[in-house]
Amino acid sequence: MATSGSGMANANYPSGTPIARRGFVELLLGSGFLATAAAFIYPVLRYIVPPQTADLGGDSVVAGKVGDLKPNSGKIFRFGSRPGLLILTAEGEYRAMSAVCTHLSCTVQYRPDLKEVWCACHNGAYGLDGRNISGPPPRPLQPFDVEVRGDEIFVTRRREG
Ligand code: FES
Repeated sequence: MATSGSGMANANYPSGTPIARRGFVELLLGSGFLATAAAFIYPVLRYIVPPQTADLGGDSVVAGKVGDLKPNSGKIFRFGSRPGLLILTAEGEYRAMSAVCTHLSCTVQYRPDLKEVWCACHNGAYGLDGRNISGPPPRPLQPFDVEVRGDEIFVTRRREG
């Protein structure tokens, strides 16, 4: 009886089988290595070269039409990939701001009874200018500019000065 490992393999399997199995294991390990490398490299490449189709928010969107809102009401609109909040104040003035709470990113809403922007997640409150006035939000909401052109309401992201 053979005492070496290769002697045992040759005794138990038809000729060529251990080599084919070794090749299969090497292929498996190689493809596992390639998959792991791709899993590390792909996110880095997507960070360096962002996808052309990703809309991370243009500078201006149509948030609605004149007549969509009654005085003292608000609506959520889509600004790129994030929600925005358009408000028509009781005095008839449009205001717009990011609808992403600065605490833990819940979507805020307009509360006509309080005449404030409110976050239901942890009872955070903001003024109509987006300033954080109570609760846990640490920063103001990002304010947007509003312009009425014809019957459309355009909301524009403010440029950082
Ligand atoms: S997420 Fe808005 S108050 Fe916490």
